[in-house]
Amino acid sequence: MKKTLITLLCVVLALTALTGCGEKGTTLKSVQNAGELVIASSPDFPPFESLNSDGSVDGIEIELCNLICEKLGVKLKIEQVDFDSVLPGVQAGKFNMGVSGISITEKRQKNVLFTDPYCLAAQAIVVTEGSPITCKADLEGKAVSVQTGTTAESYCMEQGYAVNSFAANSDAQAALTTGKVDAWVIDDLTAAEMVKAYNGDGNGTLVILPEAMTTEPYAFAFSFGSEELVKEINGILSELVADGTVQAIFDKFDAPYTSPAQA
Ligand code: ARG
Repeated sequence: MKKTLITLLCVVLALTALTGCGEKGTTLKSVQNAGELVIASSPDFPPFESLNSDGSVDGIEIELCNLICEKLGVKLKIEQVDFDSVLPGVQAGKFNMGVSGISITEKRQKNVLFTDPYCLAAQAIVVTEGSPITCKADLEGKAVSVQTGTTAESYCMEQGYAVNSFAANSDAQAALTTGKVDAWVIDDLTAAEMVKAYNGDGNGTLVILPEAMTTEPYAFAFSFGSEELVKEINGILSELVADGTVQAIFDKFDAPYTSPAQA
């Protein structure tokens, strides 16, 4: 038994060394040596990251990442994954940085390292026009759609709503528009963007309720052991917040900016 355990431990250690996973983390030097910062992103989250028809990804966070990469002197490489694979992939060392409108939570802080937040968001309730749901209290006992692995999902579960989770945000939206659920819970700025696009297409009318739920700081995620690089990126982020660059990027995407200082 003891022997088996020791063998197993050796295998794990050897694998860890080979794959570079585990507590090692990402260093500034390793990123600069590679010449690129590999980020994991779920580009179904406008205005933070969305997929263009030519397959490229853009958005507020992509612009921020490009500026960060410029300062680090490396190229940006974007790996597209479902939202619920972003943090596990970062934690496992598959990607250098998680970039997906990720809210800092205590639970996530047990698994990954976050940069300082660069903005604040909230959860919004979206319903179809004429819905009897007009505020959060009306959600009691109702079916809601959310994206898998998000803070919307955990929040709605805690509240005891009947939660329907979808890997893609667009499917969570479709669950509402096709009448499978009573409401869709999603981060406020993305709700605004997706509802505007849907209503503009003349398909029907979705309404965002004025009562927002939660306050959530967005940040970028790293594996443990990346402290030095996170410190470097925090320095870059605080400069970009202080000199108005972050505000200007939000303006460019027509999105209202709430600085983390306004918490
Ligand atoms: N802010 C929420 C969270 O951290 C939702 C993020 C969803 N992001 C995405 N790219 N689809 O859970």
